[in-house]
Amino acid sequence: MVLVLNSTEVRAALPMKEAIRSVEEGFRALGAGRAVVPKRLGISIKEFDGSLLCMPAYITDQEALAVKAVSVYPRNQEKGRPTLSAVAVLLDPRTGEPLAIIEGGALTAIRTGAAVGIATKHMAAEGARRVGIFGAGAVGRAAADAVKEVLGEPVIRVYDLVRARAERFAKEVSRQLDIDASVAADPRDAASWADVIVTATTSATPVFDGRCLGSGAHINAMGANSPDAREVDTATLLRARGRIVLDSKEACMAEAGEILIPMAEGAIRESDIFGELGEVLAKGRAVRRSEKDVTLFKSVGVAVQDAAAAAAVYKIAKAAGIGREIQF
Ligand SMILES: NC(=O)c1ccc[n+]([C@@H]2O[C@H](COP(=O)([O-])OP(=O)(O)OC[C@H]3O[C@@H](n4cnc5c(N)ncnc54)[C@H](O)[C@@H]3O)[C@@H](O)[C@H]2O)c1
Repeated sequence: MVLVLNSTEVRAALPMKEAIRSVEEGFRALGAGRAVVPKRLGISIKEFDGSLLCMPAYITDQEALAVKAVSVYPRNQEKGRPTLSAVAVLLDPRTGEPLAIIEGGALTAIRTGAAVGIATKHMAAEGARRVGIFGAGAVGRAAADAVKEVLGEPVIRVYDLVRARAERFAKEVSRQLDIDASVAADPRDAASWADVIVTATTSATPVFDGRCLGSGAHINAMGANSPDAREVDTATLLRARGRIVLDSKEACMAEAGEILIPMAEGAIRESDIFGELGEVLAKGRAVRRSEKDVTLFKSVGVAVQDAAAAAAVYKIAKAAGIGREIQF
């Protein structure tokens, strides 16, 4: 039997605390060489300004074997459709048979929020509380859940190009998470104030000026994933030099404008990259030397997050009787 889970069921079966735990294990396995993650395949659908990615992964010690097909259509917002749509298939590594078909939009937002939580937990300065979120969409929302998990009582300022979205986001987050969340007047109002910044926008150009960052800030750059697009500017990368952590070096060197553009400008070098999140976790390497360091986590998304989250959601849903079983 194959378990089918829709987005509501994914959210019910994968609370952020569990997502952080499982995705952290996934990253640790990647860093310790216990996960197989080939470079993802992508197709550009130029006629409709979209892209499709195929992301397989196998985490050997978690019995997590999965593949996700994910499309990103930034202009969907104008049509009231989601930017990102996805489906994940979890397979039994012993037989290769499918175990579950999982709605991947919710899974992706949650596992991406979990990466924000993990990087923030291991890289932000002690006592960090003020969180600036750029982009009031699905990933920004999951990031709010994640910082609540790892920082205890964060105070959030959200900035979105569409003010009404930021206002709705602040209202919902305040009510649902019982934390102080408000709308930033402009990008600077969030960036210069925050101890932790999350960029989760569809912007291809920097969303704040890195020169205004406070001492000790930690940035999670989650949104952009093409070589000519970036949410974070060269000034920020210069301030984080030596304290830059990537979710996957191979993927970021192919896809992350945040890294590739300043490298092409000669502003930073490969030696300015501290390492991968998986290594930081597996080897217990401290990224931050002092409370004054600016640190940066750049993510383009790694399939190990999907495999870890898919295995966790399946286990919980099975035990709780969530979803529908179908005969293939
Ligand atoms: N790193 C990863 O693993 C990962 C995973 C999933 C999605 N993503 C990426 O994250 C981004 C956000 O995804 P989503 O599903 O939340 O999208 P979404 O469409 O739900 O939300 C994006 C928001 O960003 C806002 N925005 C655009 N430009 C902005 C700017 N300059 N300043 C402030 N706000 C701005 C939009 O108005 C929108 O509200 C996408 O680019 C997506 O491809 C990355």
